[in-house]
Amino acid sequence: MKRPSSRGAVLVGFMGSGKSVVGKELARRLGARFADTDARIEEMAGATVPEIFAARGETAFRELERDAIRDLVSVPGRVIATGGGAFLDEENRRLLSAYAPVIHLEASPGTVLSRLAGDAGRPLLAGPDRERTVRELHARRAASYREADFSVRTDALSVEEVADRIVRILSGKEGEGE
Ligand code: S3P
Repeated sequence: MKRPSSRGAVLVGFMGSGKSVVGKELARRLGARFADTDARIEEMAGATVPEIFAARGETAFRELERDAIRDLVSVPGRVIATGGGAFLDEENRRLLSAYAPVIHLEASPGTVLSRLAGDAGRPLLAGPDRERTVRELHARRAASYREADFSVRTDALSVEEVADRIVRILSGKEGEGE
């Protein structure tokens, strides 16, 4: 396994698992720069994620996502929060895993549904049966997320507690899957 480094980390996991908010807090604690793949995509495209999905479709979004990741990993030491689908792509997994320790923020379907209640910014969840979509996608993505180096179950933790846990993992005080 990769040695935990004192700077830089990659956060992966389902929509609503807290990657962006935890990533910012983690970057602050590590004294690292924070980057978010969705924000980079929006910058590159000059459009929001829902606008990109609506105008160009998911395939075009995934291409932009790969470009954004290639771009973000060109500068070392960042804390990178990824979009929930980014780690499903083999090339993205390879680039991100080579970049820094990858931490999976785990959140159950129930947690995701309650955290994203009323959220209209996730095009994949825009259909009529959000609960079913979340459960199906969640199950389908589990195997890819398991390829992360570490996993933190976030359901019962605050942002600060998740960041604490990750800092401990990165400093080698806490093991895989704890
Ligand atoms: C997606 C997750 C979103 C965003 C896009 C697709 C996904 O990011 O990249 O809507 O496939 O799970 P968040 O995980 O930050 O919501």
